[in-house]
Amino acid sequence: MHVTTQFIRPSEVAADWLIVGVWASEPPAGAMAELDASMDRQLTRLFERGDITGKAKETTPLYEPRGIAAKRLLVVGLGSRAKADPTGLFTAGAVAARELTTKAYQRLAFLLPDAGPKLDAETVTALIGTGMRHGSEGAGLRKNKPDRFAPQELCLIAAPDVDRGAVERGARRAEVEGRAVSLARELVNLPPCDLYPETFADRARMVAQQTGVECVVLDERELAAERMNALLAVARGSDRPPRLVVLRYRGRQTGPTLGLVGKGVTFDSGGLSLKTTDQMVDMKCDMAGAATVLAAIQALADEKVPVNVLGVMALVENLPGGKAMKLGDVLHARNGKTIEVLNTDAEGRLILADALAYTVDQKVDHLVDLATLTGACIVALGMDVAGVMTNDEAWSARVQAAAKAAGERLWPLPMDSHYGEMIKSDIADMKNTGGSRWAGAISAAKMLEEFVGGTPWAHLDIAGPAWAEKDNTVRGAGGTGFGVRTLIELARRYS
Ligand code: BES
Ligand code: ZN
Ligand code: ZN
Repeated sequence: MHVTTQFIRPSEVAADWLIVGVWASEPPAGAMAELDASMDRQLTRLFERGDITGKAKETTPLYEPRGIAAKRLLVVGLGSRAKADPTGLFTAGAVAARELTTKAYQRLAFLLPDAGPKLDAETVTALIGTGMRHGSEGAGLRKNKPDRFAPQELCLIAAPDVDRGAVERGARRAEVEGRAVSLARELVNLPPCDLYPETFADRARMVAQQTGVECVVLDERELAAERMNALLAVARGSDRPPRLVVLRYRGRQTGPTLGLVGKGVTFDSGGLSLKTTDQMVDMKCDMAGAATVLAAIQALADEKVPVNVLGVMALVENLPGGKAMKLGDVLHARNGKTIEVLNTDAEGRLILADALAYTVDQKVDHLVDLATLTGACIVALGMDVAGVMTNDEAWSARVQAAAKAAGERLWPLPMDSHYGEMIKSDIADMKNTGGSRWAGAISAAKMLEEFVGGTPWAHLDIAGPAWAEKDNTVRGAGGTGFGVRTLIELARRYS
């Protein structure tokens, strides 16, 4: 799917569908007014009759529009212009594409709206373009008869007098970031019989090769040499060996390094603390953090963002095989700390303990980890918002600002020292559960904190937003690619 730009009058756009966004309770203005005039003021009439209101996510298809070059017209509501924000623009692109891509069309064109002074043309273009790509793809990877058809071309249309450079940069970002989000979604949607630590690592190697990023994959022997015993203990319940993928992207000669760490449990059965079927059905999604890290680094390298990033993906399968770790086992993690295992289903924090300690040893200046870590975080924040926990408020604020610009929702949870008491163990330095149902997302983060040294660190618990159980008008069910655009935005600012 190519993202292109055109700077012409909207009535002259040749496309299978021309999509135009309208703001709530604002009659057609600017480029829209021009379109409306070519159409004998049909849009104004639909507005006056209340058929079109401009309410967010409202779509109105016009199949044989008169007086314009496009074959069909889709009017999509943008909500109120005063409240325009990144999420709304991304959503407008996604809703339009979801409505149109159930049939195969060659060329979809979107007339870029003027979103007011807060959102520049580059940002608007990037958000609508990535949204459209998002809406063009679904989870049906293994269907013999596809149910969604991505168009060959997405064309972003601006009036001849806009800042062309900005729109072109935005379109390029839409192409690159859209592809990255698709990669993350695809990896999450792949069945666990096909995607396991070794095949995930192969895929990461391929991405690294294509983008010119340095890639090292540690196998189980090398992991043992690196003393990553907590990660290895989780992996031992499965016949599939673990992998640790280390990607190094050098976008500049000097400057600080941003460390990105992802939880990559390619299937989480719970281990001996076995999940029920209902809890287990979607657990191929438990590698979403690792997929997000890989996808973001792909985009940064494609865009040649001048930043230095170290990406670490901890890849294991959590199964209850004969060599599985047992309740009561004590693990010696890479940094020398000991962990009593009281629930094998709290495996994410075990593999991240070693992966975080390893990343800190590679001398990164700031850390972000992403993990589908706890059901408790979903209880706290629901399906659309990720929790953010930190040892450094200033760093967390930077991560939150990046998420806001990307249109992804994060919300901070407190990390006061008394939460640390929840993970005290009688026999070891800590235990791997909080021991009660309360504040489960925080007690998990408190354990991770033991492995980051003093490095400024933000932990994103993406258990809710990484996966969509059902589809809706904005996006399909399955992997959502949540976090990819936040990481790209963060890295861009970091440079
Ligand atoms: N992968 C799960 C968390 C999860 C739950 C992700 C639902 C996405 C949707 C994690 O490994 C887990 O099982 N956590 C346990 C921790 C508990 C045993 C302390 C949980 O949240 O129940
Ligand atoms: Zn688990
Ligand atoms: Zn898990």
